[in-house]
Amino acid sequence: MVKVAIFASGSGTNFENIMQRVTAGELPNIEVTALYTDQAEAECIQRAQPFNLDVHITELKDYATKADYERAMLKQLEREGVEWIILAGYMKLISATILDAYESRILNIHPSLLPKYKGVDAIGQAFTSGDKETGTTVHYVDSGMDTGQIIEQRQCPIYEDDTKADLEQRVKSLEYELYPKVIAEIIQ
Ligand code: GRF
Repeated sequence: MVKVAIFASGSGTNFENIMQRVTAGELPNIEVTALYTDQAEAECIQRAQPFNLDVHITELKDYATKADYERAMLKQLEREGVEWIILAGYMKLISATILDAYESRILNIHPSLLPKYKGVDAIGQAFTSGDKETGTTVHYVDSGMDTGQIIEQRQCPIYEDDTKADLEQRVKSLEYELYPKVIAEIIQ
């Protein structure tokens, strides 16, 4: 079994989807040790409950520097023997402290066809772009914002009568299929 930690900051639907797959036996090589979040009020915390999963809340405001904050997380990761980190809507850049310890062992999913629409509100950027398609990307994490090596992408159309919520739902449906598939392939 490979021990992984999932990092999330928000609603946590990708986190929940991965946990459902793990529970259903679809990711047989993977053991999720805990949910790590930087937001004490995040919805993802409630989503961890049915899985009886540990949740570690580490807030940047409680530390003097980002490095101190990451050192606290790293201590916990090492205590649990975590080998891979899966980012699922974690809204901070991973800095040198964690990156050096987990080089080439951190995955992220981003809701656009990278290198297009990096950063926040990628769905909104695609929605207002006039593009006829968008999608999602799973990539390795490096020190940049959504700049790591691309592993796999999935496309979907943008229809003229879409609302932004329609588009978000369409992209998320792709994510719920793509992310577990890539995780199963990459993390062995
Ligand atoms: C996803 O769209 C993912 O691509 C991005 O953040 C979003 C997280 O959504 N990194 P959720 O919290 O999993 O619902």
